Amino acid sequence: MQETESVKMITRFEETPEYQAFLQRHEEMELATDHHDPYFAIHDSPLTDTSIMNGRRVLNFGSYNYVGMSGRKEVSEAAKEAIDKYGTSASGSRLLAGEKTLTQTLEKELAAWKHTEDCLVLVSGFGTNQTFVGNFCGDGDLILYDEYAHSSIWQGCQMSRATCRPFPHNDAKALDRILSTRRSRFAKVLIVIEGAYSMDGDIADVPAIIEVKKKYGCFLMVDEAHSSCVLGETGGGVDEYFHLDPSDIDIKMGTLSKGLGACGGYLAGPRSIIEYMRYFLPGFVFSVGISPALAAAALTSCRLLQSNPEIMQRMHHNIHFFAEEARKRHLNICLAGKTAVIPVLIRDDLAAYRLSNALLEKGVFVPPAVFPAVPRDQARLRFCVISEHTDEEIVQALDTLVECARELGITLPE
Ligand SMILES: Cc1ncc(COP(=O)(O)O)c(C=O)c1O
Repeated sequence: MQETESVKMITRFEETPEYQAFLQRHEEMELATDHHDPYFAIHDSPLTDTSIMNGRRVLNFGSYNYVGMSGRKEVSEAAKEAIDKYGTSASGSRLLAGEKTLTQTLEKELAAWKHTEDCLVLVSGFGTNQTFVGNFCGDGDLILYDEYAHSSIWQGCQMSRATCRPFPHNDAKALDRILSTRRSRFAKVLIVIEGAYSMDGDIADVPAIIEVKKKYGCFLMVDEAHSSCVLGETGGGVDEYFHLDPSDIDIKMGTLSKGLGACGGYLAGPRSIIEYMRYFLPGFVFSVGISPALAAAALTSCRLLQSNPEIMQRMHHNIHFFAEEARKRHLNICLAGKTAVIPVLIRDDLAAYRLSNALLEKGVFVPPAVFPAVPRDQARLRFCVISEHTDEEIVQALDTLVECARELGITLPE
């Protein structure tokens, strides 16, 4: 960092440009929503097809509890049993004192589910991306990541000593062009994509990206936060969906917080990488092991998903039904329709806030996604469909959206 001769010293956070900008945006939102901030909405129950908000049961279309595991009886019971057996904390880094049979079983079963040799579980999905992307490559290496990649991947890039470049969203040809001129200048190249993108709900063109990765001898990491428990017959994710060879993807990253109804992250891949990470990955080694309750919940969810195929069947039915019903109402669902995240385009940030609030008043919870989470003028209501929704609930939510837009005089883009 270069030192300049003299700058205006900031001694109070309130004086910072970032805080000033935050205040301005916040005030605009408060004005537009009549002081009903749509963020930090409180749910005093599990978030399944419904949830309890302000003492009232509402339809819930805002959660990542894709297959209803958080709140499911078997999952809660497994978590409680684990607390009785192990207590509430792992009480240490797993390398030293925090290891448990339960956590090892979870890793073995996740590895089998993801068709990999080994798996490592960490306490946070965000932290898993940040620490892996931040440490897998170093000086003389290159990281190429999809421009729509999640903040945790981007934060990992910021930490890494490797050269990092985004490539155009889901564009295997552009990736090929970059590598055709640059591959030979770097030792390791890591390509990072998501299986399904969480703002647009589209699926990555994984087979085309695998072709490029093989052509240039790169490593491929796929963040399966929104594709595991959503794509494939057992919810196994992109390799089940595209019928890939198990070794086509080097690192299948996933979270325990979404479909698996717990909290944490995992890296599933070849024994060499995972075993090395077990001893050297800072975000794993210098952090506590996953809490026993969460490990038990994730393990039970993973088992339930594989032994009850009707859960994924229902998930897939709901995705298609929602997309079809949205199109019937001439709603613009961006690139979505095959994954559980189905955004409805609104464009204007303030219109998205107002619609979200109006829907909640009529008993439907769906949060807005606005800039900077999405590009400017691309605000949307991000519906998350889960296996627990009924057809009637989906129809009710979409009808309510159309009704609210009409009442507020907001034209929904087609
Ligand atoms: C694509 C993606 N990766 C990683 C994460 C972080 O996972 P977690 O919320 O489990 O920390 C998220 C969270 O929403 C995500 O959407």
